[in-house]
Amino acid sequence: MPLTAASKAELRLCSRLRLSEEQAVALVSSMRAGTSARPAIVLSPLAPADYEPPFACADTSAWPWLPPRVYVPAEGERPTAHADYAAGLYYSLDLSSCWESAPLSVVPPPDSSLDLCAAPGGKSMLMAARYLPRQHAANEVNAQRRGILRQNMQLCGVPNVEVTGLRPDQWAAEGRSFDLLLADAPCSGQSLLCKGIRNPGCLGQQMVNGNAKRQKGILLAAVQCVNPGGYILYSTCTYDPDENEKVMAYILKRVPGWQAVEVPLLAVYRSALADFPCYRMLPHHGSGAGGFCCLLQKT
Ligand SMILES: C[S@@+](CC[C@H](N)C(=O)[O-])C[C@H]1O[C@@H](n2cnc3c(N)ncnc32)[C@H](O)[C@@H]1O
Repeated sequence: MPLTAASKAELRLCSRLRLSEEQAVALVSSMRAGTSARPAIVLSPLAPADYEPPFACADTSAWPWLPPRVYVPAEGERPTAHADYAAGLYYSLDLSSCWESAPLSVVPPPDSSLDLCAAPGGKSMLMAARYLPRQHAANEVNAQRRGILRQNMQLCGVPNVEVTGLRPDQWAAEGRSFDLLLADAPCSGQSLLCKGIRNPGCLGQQMVNGNAKRQKGILLAAVQCVNPGGYILYSTCTYDPDENEKVMAYILKRVPGWQAVEVPLLAVYRSALADFPCYRMLPHHGSGAGGFCCLLQKT
């Protein structure tokens, strides 16, 4: 499609992302086609070390950042149609979600961790595949989603997990702190369009502003829940810089004693929209619908 056929909101997003004309056409086409979803699976703690998925898998050498115990089903395979899925041997999620957890490659195994926005449980599963903390809290404020999270943690046999439902400010008031905190924040979800999921208003400034405000609030509470030397992995599944680079820049400026950490495996995805290390992937990279991630360390 020519870029002249793009809507004002689509053009605004492309310009805020400082995309070239070619990249802008690719992004708008992906948002309209809705075919960028790329399923992946992560093995659960129930799957033995020599477990092989019961379906054909793609060659993963193009994705050096792929977390441990993650497989990408070959085109046309339906991983959720197998008995092993129903038995909790693996969990199904988008490849972009796996990409968003790649910064954990530079985080030493934590003793304690908190997944602040955890349902339905994908990031907690990815973390459990990399290292099993002695104590993990999988937290979800929405009661219905918390039920699904609990079921997923139980079905997949994630050990040492406590499912909780506190708001971020309640966590801050609790006075508990962790070596690693995952903040996979609620966002405008612009990447849903690229998966063919309707998301009215997600390109509008009002939706973006509302989410950016909520994300800053979540992080201002999150920074109070991390041990010295510990980490926050912030991620979203949206493209707008206001919910990504600008949220990180706000925290780094507003809260002393934090730095953004370089992730060598993600070097090619480094965002040009920030002067600190943070990473963004767009659907035309061919690894799912895209997202944003940034690793912060309490110095
Ligand atoms: C992007 S989803 C998390 C996906 C999950 N990490 C996964 O990988 O499966 C964001 C979650 O944040 C929750 N949420 C919404 N508002 C919140 C808030 N103010 N504080 C914390 N969590 C919130 C939502 O209910 C939703 O489950």
